[in-house]
Amino acid sequence: MDKDLQTMDSLSITGVRAPIYPIIAEQIVDELKIREGIAIDVGAGPAALSIAMARITNLEIYAMDISTEILEIAQKSIENEGFNDRIKPILGDVHQIPFQDHFANLIFSRGSMFFWNDLTTAFKEINRVLMPGGFGFIGGGFGSAAVKKKVKKQIKHQSNRPYENSPKIQVDDLETAVKDVGIHSYTIINDESGLWVIFKK
Ligand SMILES: C[S@@+](CC[C@H](N)C(=O)[O-])C[C@H]1O[C@@H](n2cnc3c(N)ncnc32)[C@H](O)[C@@H]1O
Repeated sequence: MDKDLQTMDSLSITGVRAPIYPIIAEQIVDELKIREGIAIDVGAGPAALSIAMARITNLEIYAMDISTEILEIAQKSIENEGFNDRIKPILGDVHQIPFQDHFANLIFSRGSMFFWNDLTTAFKEINRVLMPGGFGFIGGGFGSAAVKKKVKKQIKHQSNRPYENSPKIQVDDLETAVKDVGIHSYTIINDESGLWVIFKK
């Protein structure tokens, strides 16, 4: 297995990054009050956030990623955590999401948008696949400043090298992409919890 993928897996599911996913899942559910229906986790990686969301909701979740290798890891994590019936790994690119229009009640994504080639196309696709009244919760971060500090310190300690930040997105560029695709009802959060855009279709 690719070393980067091994690292992502060991950090996310049981490792030092594990505590961030339940916090972010709580934030999504508290903010949007959504517990039923269909959700897509875009750029799900090892499916840690999908699993955290499945634990606190009844959502049917598609853990979508562009990497087949990471999806094999996701499948194992989903089986180990006993969510085979409610989380389905699926291969897909955010620039061409493999679902019909108005398919999902919720699309969430953590840590993936920083790697997307074309933010406007990505948000256009996300908006297309959401049903009217559906919600998007897209961005990246650690849930809280305290958790971020702790996780970064532990990763640095374990790997003996500085924590590598994700590539950056300018808040203005994120807002432009969201507005360009006709999303008008949105909130951008840019604080110690990370950079997120939350919107309703
Ligand atoms: C930093 S990882 C985050 C994984 C996971 N969401 C988490 O928070 O642990 C970014 C993920 O986005 C995926 N990704 C990157 N570009 C993508 C694209 N265009 N469409 C779908 N997934 C993508 C990568 O394969 C990778 O698994």
